[in-house]
Amino acid sequence: MFKMKINEALKQKLDEVAEIAGYIWQKGWAERNAGNISINVTDIIGDENKSLPALSRYPLPRDMKELAGNCFFVTGTLKLMRNVGKNPLKNGSFVRVAPDGSSYDVIGPENIKPTSELPSHFSIHVFLKKKNSSKKVVLHTHPTELTALSHVIEFKDEKRLNEMLWKMHPEVFIVVPRGLGMVPYEVPGTLELADLTVKALENHDFAVWEKHGVLGVGEELVEIFDLLDTLNKSAIMYGYVKACGHQPEGLTQAQLDGLIKPFNIKL
Ligand code: 13P
Ligand code: ZN
Repeated sequence: MFKMKINEALKQKLDEVAEIAGYIWQKGWAERNAGNISINVTDIIGDENKSLPALSRYPLPRDMKELAGNCFFVTGTLKLMRNVGKNPLKNGSFVRVAPDGSSYDVIGPENIKPTSELPSHFSIHVFLKKKNSSKKVVLHTHPTELTALSHVIEFKDEKRLNEMLWKMHPEVFIVVPRGLGMVPYEVPGTLELADLTVKALENHDFAVWEKHGVLGVGEELVEIFDLLDTLNKSAIMYGYVKACGHQPEGLTQAQLDGLIKPFNIKL
């Protein structure tokens, strides 16, 4: 029987997953099984792999016709990010959505059940497909400082949170000028959380899941990680200054405005 063949393009993606999962663990963003990754690999998985038999089949939480026949690499539920870093194929699997968009099959190489956050991941992939977006990667993780800020009542206001993050570090305004979307608390793994996240991604590439974590989309996993790392740096510095008993001065509006032209920032 034909076994899954990991071609060069898939190997590159898996190497990237391993590298970034390792960083996420080192950053302390991945306690126990925290966080998950999905990548749309339909264009690179290869025809033979696409027709592999199902190792298991799961219903989708709702009709996702837009993903019919699409294939994804998805990290497994309850798998540890530090182990994804060591061996993605023992801690995640490739899955294929059924032609009618009502279910999906795990096609290997091992029979690993995907993340409990699949409703959010797949709803976002539907959203990205509808927009004809070149973004194919979704990362959910628990960056400590940024997540902690979502417990601060003042920062439940998206505008205030973004302004604070931009003012703490010019780099944040330069690389994430659209800021983060704020998603009010919902039970993890639900369609309610998925729908609110998709709404937030209409205007942003990142969403804070209140009192839980952060989710980002992009073309490459490394790019999402680096931007989240930059956003989290602002949260860390805010916390340091506050812990020293001071109110951070922050960049002034004029200083922020002064970045727009030299860095060609598109708002
Ligand atoms: P999974 O182990 O199912 O991926 O869940 C981890 C998580 O972070 C849930 O939000
Ligand atoms: Zn989580």
